[in-house]
Amino acid sequence: MEGYVFNTETTEETLRLAGKLALLLSPGDVVTLEGDLGAGKTTFTKGIGAGLGITRTINSPTYTIVKEYMGEIPLYHMDVYRLENSDEDIGFQEYFDGPGITIIEWASFIKEFLPEHRLDITIQSKGDYQRVITLNPRGHHFDQICKELAR
Ligand SMILES: Nc1ncnc2c1ncn2[C@@H]1O[C@H](COP(=O)(O)OP(=O)(O)OP(=O)(O)O)[C@@H](O)[C@H]1O
Ligand SMILES: [Mg+2]
Repeated sequence: MEGYVFNTETTEETLRLAGKLALLLSPGDVVTLEGDLGAGKTTFTKGIGAGLGITRTINSPTYTIVKEYMGEIPLYHMDVYRLENSDEDIGFQEYFDGPGITIIEWASFIKEFLPEHRLDITIQSKGDYQRVITLNPRGHHFDQICKELAR
Protein backbone atom coordinates (compact mmCIF):
# COMPACT_ATOMS: atom_id res chain seq x y z
CA MET A 1 0.00 0.00 0.00
CA GLU A 2 1.27 3.47 -0.89
CA GLY A 3 1.11 6.33 1.56
CA TYR A 4 3.08 7.77 4.43
CA VAL A 5 4.28 4.92 6.62
CA PHE A 6 5.20 5.24 10.30
CA ASN A 7 6.38 2.39 12.47
CA THR A 8 5.74 2.51 16.20
CA GLU A 9 6.99 0.11 18.84
CA THR A 10 5.07 1.28 21.89
CA THR A 11 1.64 2.66 22.76
CA GLU A 12 3.33 5.94 23.73
CA GLU A 13 4.93 6.29 20.30
CA THR A 14 1.53 5.93 18.65
CA LEU A 15 0.07 8.49 21.05
CA ARG A 16 2.90 10.87 20.21
CA LEU A 17 2.45 10.48 16.46
CA ALA A 18 -1.29 11.11 16.79
CA GLY A 19 -0.60 14.13 18.99
CA LYS A 20 1.66 15.61 16.33
CA LEU A 21 -0.99 15.00 13.70
CA ALA A 22 -3.62 16.71 15.85
CA LEU A 23 -1.64 19.94 15.76
CA LEU A 24 -1.82 19.95 11.96
CA LEU A 25 -5.59 19.36 11.71
CA SER A 26 -8.25 22.03 11.27
CA PRO A 27 -11.96 22.29 12.08
CA GLY A 28 -13.98 20.27 9.57
CA ASP A 29 -11.24 17.72 8.93
CA VAL A 30 -12.24 14.06 8.71
CA VAL A 31 -9.84 11.24 9.63
CA THR A 32 -10.67 7.56 9.12
CA LEU A 33 -9.10 4.66 11.02
CA GLU A 34 -8.96 1.07 9.80
CA GLY A 35 -7.31 -1.91 11.42
CA ASP A 36 -8.17 -5.15 13.18
CA LEU A 37 -9.57 -5.38 16.70
CA GLY A 38 -6.95 -4.10 19.11
CA ALA A 39 -4.78 -2.58 16.38
CA GLY A 40 -4.76 0.79 18.12
CA LYS A 41 -7.54 2.89 16.57
CA THR A 42 -8.88 4.12 19.89
CA THR A 43 -5.33 4.62 21.15
CA PHE A 44 -4.62 6.81 18.13
CA THR A 45 -7.80 8.78 18.82
CA LYS A 46 -6.69 9.34 22.43
CA GLY A 47 -3.47 10.82 21.05
CA ILE A 48 -5.42 13.14 18.78
CA GLY A 49 -7.56 14.24 21.71
CA ALA A 50 -4.51 14.91 23.88
CA GLY A 51 -2.94 16.89 21.05
CA LEU A 52 -6.08 19.00 20.81
CA GLY A 53 -5.85 19.69 24.53
CA ILE A 54 -8.92 17.66 25.44
CA THR A 55 -8.57 16.54 29.04
CA ARG A 56 -11.63 14.28 29.35
CA THR A 57 -10.82 10.59 29.03
CA ILE A 58 -11.49 9.26 25.55
CA ASN A 59 -12.94 5.76 25.54
CA SER A 60 -14.24 3.57 22.80
CA PRO A 61 -17.73 4.81 21.87
CA THR A 62 -18.86 1.35 20.84
CA TYR A 63 -22.31 1.69 22.42
CA THR A 64 -23.08 5.19 21.24
CA ILE A 65 -21.47 5.35 17.75
CA VAL A 66 -20.41 8.93 18.36
CA LYS A 67 -19.02 10.81 21.34
CA GLU A 68 -18.37 14.53 21.31
CA TYR A 69 -15.52 16.08 23.26
CA MET A 70 -15.49 19.80 23.76
CA GLY A 71 -12.26 21.68 23.33
CA GLU A 72 -10.90 24.72 21.58
CA ILE A 73 -11.52 22.51 18.56
CA PRO A 74 -14.14 19.86 19.41
CA LEU A 75 -13.51 16.20 18.62
CA TYR A 76 -16.22 13.92 17.27
CA HIS A 77 -15.15 10.34 17.89
CA MET A 78 -17.15 7.73 15.96
CA ASP A 79 -16.93 3.96 16.09
CA VAL A 80 -19.22 2.72 13.34
CA TYR A 81 -18.46 -0.97 13.85
CA ARG A 82 -22.13 -1.62 14.60
CA LEU A 83 -23.20 -0.09 11.29
CA GLU A 84 -21.73 -2.93 9.23
CA ASN A 85 -24.40 -4.06 6.74
CA SER A 86 -26.57 -1.09 7.65
CA ASP A 87 -27.07 2.02 5.58
CA GLU A 88 -28.23 4.10 8.51
CA ASP A 89 -27.24 7.75 8.37
CA ILE A 90 -26.86 9.09 11.91
CA GLY A 91 -26.41 12.60 10.52
CA PHE A 92 -22.81 12.24 9.43
CA GLN A 93 -22.78 15.33 7.25
CA GLU A 94 -23.67 17.57 10.18
CA TYR A 95 -20.60 16.35 12.03
CA PHE A 96 -18.38 16.73 8.98
CA ASP A 97 -19.68 20.27 8.45
CA GLY A 98 -19.42 21.12 12.15
CA PRO A 99 -16.69 23.08 13.91
CA GLY A 100 -14.88 19.97 15.11
CA ILE A 101 -12.54 17.28 13.85
CA THR A 102 -14.19 13.94 13.09
CA ILE A 103 -12.34 10.68 13.61
CA ILE A 104 -14.01 7.44 12.53
CA GLU A 105 -13.05 3.90 13.56
CA TRP A 106 -14.12 1.21 11.04
CA ALA A 107 -14.93 3.92 8.48
CA SER A 108 -15.16 1.38 5.64
CA PHE A 109 -18.60 0.44 7.01
CA ILE A 110 -19.95 3.88 6.11
CA LYS A 111 -18.07 4.37 2.83
CA GLU A 112 -21.06 5.93 1.10
CA PHE A 113 -21.18 8.77 3.63
CA LEU A 114 -17.50 9.68 3.71
CA PRO A 115 -16.38 13.01 2.27
CA GLU A 116 -14.09 12.92 -0.76
CA HIS A 117 -11.41 14.91 1.04
CA ARG A 118 -10.16 13.15 4.15
CA LEU A 119 -7.21 11.43 5.74
CA ASP A 120 -7.36 7.63 5.65
CA ILE A 121 -5.24 5.84 8.25
CA THR A 122 -4.60 2.12 8.50
CA ILE A 123 -3.02 0.52 11.56
CA GLN A 124 -1.49 -2.92 11.14
CA SER A 125 -0.37 -4.96 14.09
CA LYS A 126 2.96 -6.75 13.67
CA GLY A 127 3.13 -8.30 17.11
CA ASP A 128 2.33 -7.24 20.65
CA TYR A 129 3.78 -3.74 20.37
CA GLN A 130 4.83 -3.11 16.79
CA ARG A 131 2.42 -1.22 14.59
CA VAL A 132 2.65 -0.05 11.00
CA ILE A 133 0.61 3.11 10.62
CA THR A 134 -0.08 4.18 7.04
CA LEU A 135 -1.56 7.56 6.17
CA ASN A 136 -3.29 8.01 2.81
CA PRO A 137 -4.25 11.62 2.17
CA ARG A 138 -7.27 12.29 -0.03
CA GLY A 139 -6.93 15.80 -1.34
CA HIS A 140 -4.34 18.57 -1.27
CA HIS A 141 -5.02 19.76 2.29
CA PHE A 142 -4.25 16.31 3.70
CA ASP A 143 -1.27 15.87 1.35
CA GLN A 144 0.27 18.92 2.96
CA ILE A 145 -0.46 17.61 6.45
CA CYS A 146 1.21 14.26 5.72
CA LYS A 147 4.26 15.93 4.20
CA GLU A 148 4.60 18.10 7.30
CA LEU A 149 4.16 15.13 9.64
CA ALA A 150 6.82 13.15 7.76
CA ARG A 151 9.39 15.97 7.93
N1 LIG B 1 2.59 0.48 19.19
C1 LIG B 1 1.34 0.48 19.68
N2 LIG B 1 0.45 1.40 19.23
C2 LIG B 1 -0.82 1.39 19.69
N3 LIG B 1 -1.31 0.53 20.61
C3 LIG B 1 -0.46 -0.38 21.10
C4 LIG B 1 0.88 -0.44 20.66
N4 LIG B 1 1.49 -1.45 21.33
C5 LIG B 1 0.57 -1.98 22.13
N5 LIG B 1 -0.62 -1.36 22.01
C6 LIG B 1 -1.83 -1.70 22.76
O1 LIG B 1 -2.79 -2.24 21.84
C7 LIG B 1 -4.12 -1.94 22.32
C8 LIG B 1 -4.89 -1.20 21.23
O2 LIG B 1 -6.23 -1.09 21.64
P1 LIG B 1 -7.26 -0.09 21.00
O3 LIG B 1 -8.47 -0.09 21.83
O4 LIG B 1 -6.59 1.22 20.73
O5 LIG B 1 -7.52 -0.81 19.59
P2 LIG B 1 -8.72 -0.57 18.56
O6 LIG B 1 -8.10 -0.67 17.21
O7 LIG B 1 -9.44 0.67 18.89
O8 LIG B 1 -9.64 -1.84 18.81
P3 LIG B 1 -11.22 -2.02 18.51
O9 LIG B 1 -11.31 -2.55 17.11
O10 LIG B 1 -11.65 -3.04 19.51
O11 LIG B 1 -11.90 -0.71 18.67
C9 LIG B 1 -3.94 -1.07 23.55
O12 LIG B 1 -4.04 -1.89 24.69
C10 LIG B 1 -2.53 -0.52 23.39
O13 LIG B 1 -1.92 -0.19 24.63
MG1 LIG C 1 -11.47 1.07 19.25
